Amino acid sequence: MDRKARTRKLQEEDRRYLWHPFTQQRDWVKTDPLIIERGDGVYLEDTEGRRYLDGVSSIWVNLHGHRKQALDRALLAQIKRIAHATMLGLSNVPAIELAKRLVALAPPGLTRVFYSDNGSTAVEVALKMAFEYWQRQNGGFWEKTKFLHLGEAYHGDTLGAVSVGGIPLFHERFKPLLFPAYEAHAPYCYRCPLRLTFPECKLSCADSVEQILKQHHEEIAALIVEPMLLAAGGMITMPQGYLTRLRKLCTRYQILMIADEVTTGFGRTGRMFACEHEGVKPDLMAISKGLTGGYLPLAATLTTERIYRAFLGRYEEFKTFFHGHSYTGNPLGCAVALANLEVLRKERTLFRLQPKIAALQLLLKPLWGDPHVGDIRQLGLIAGIELVRDLATKEPYPLAARVGMRVAEEARRLGLLIRPLGNVIVLMPPLSTTMRELKQMVGIVAKAIRAVTSTGIPS
Ligand SMILES: Cc1ncc(COP(=O)(O)O)c(C=O)c1O
Repeated sequence: MDRKARTRKLQEEDRRYLWHPFTQQRDWVKTDPLIIERGDGVYLEDTEGRRYLDGVSSIWVNLHGHRKQALDRALLAQIKRIAHATMLGLSNVPAIELAKRLVALAPPGLTRVFYSDNGSTAVEVALKMAFEYWQRQNGGFWEKTKFLHLGEAYHGDTLGAVSVGGIPLFHERFKPLLFPAYEAHAPYCYRCPLRLTFPECKLSCADSVEQILKQHHEEIAALIVEPMLLAAGGMITMPQGYLTRLRKLCTRYQILMIADEVTTGFGRTGRMFACEHEGVKPDLMAISKGLTGGYLPLAATLTTERIYRAFLGRYEEFKTFFHGHSYTGNPLGCAVALANLEVLRKERTLFRLQPKIAALQLLLKPLWGDPHVGDIRQLGLIAGIELVRDLATKEPYPLAARVGMRVAEEARRLGLLIRPLGNVIVLMPPLSTTMRELKQMVGIVAKAIRAVTSTGIPS
């Protein structure tokens, strides 16, 4: 069968058997899906040999490009030893070695590593640990059963993570299934909920966090937050000092701080972890995505000795943390994560990233002149470009007009794969992207935006 015929057959079978995540299947089955067969560096290659730039790191996971030799080698070496053995009642070599490395890298105070499989499970673990921590305290913290999160927050798709989510489009529908949580204003400067401007606002949006804590801290176990950048909410960057303020409030009102570094971790924002931008030390931290350099699903929840100790006791006291997954601490994932950390260290990835971050800012600059670019938000090698119908009023395009999706479709025609968040065009290339590739990517994004927004968009 030639390549074209094989692709046709695969496309038919995709439409026949698959159900894709975050996808309207009625539209999907009318398309010819792009089927990826290979990858190399920042390029993805389809079944017919066409190459595309991977502009969103395969949904925010890939760090060093595809088919990174050091990671391939680590995986092959581990598979010759063992693919998987349980962590229930046993341990394994890469899981131990990785935990040690993670503790050394993490913000100070995080000394214990609990593995799981993906960003959502890492968040579930953090929520359950935080809740149970208070239940385990002597002297009555029984009421600390609720959580506080920000508007526009996204922490994953499992029900605990959805309960602390703040994106109505994704989360509202499931309300009857969720536990109640408090929501504070998002620090969304472009569409400030208080109609103020930074820095004159003096971070007034954080006052809503304080007000909730003042009134309800006795029933709140923890605040969960994506440090420095609300990713799926639209790449909303936090104003300087906001995260520090949250940390201070958590301490003052005696609630735990959960940092969800699932997307921001491992260099993506220019620092190893986003908390480092403000020297913030969380009580729990969820990591995944970049942990394996984008190779395998692995996650971890890191926490402090104080929280860990709350679960210690005689067997029959059953203070055990009753949580675990079949693939917890999977040796293949841990081995490739170790190799990933080694590449980050050896290749001085973060050091070499800094000029690319500056270059991205320069490359994005001309887009400010586009009549439909309302805001450009950048942190590290992450950029969100918010498109608006009307620049003066900031009137958004209606979601039904699929403007973001149409820009992504145009970019694909030009050789770049991106995935928008509603009207926000996202660029989050692998950290290994070269200056030339970066220039190419931004050039395509600019062209695609122009092509779509200069045509009449239906209401
Ligand atoms: C901040 C954050 N937390 C959690 C998740 C969920 O991770 P996963 O898709 O691996 O479950 C995501 C995914 O995008 C995320 O951005």
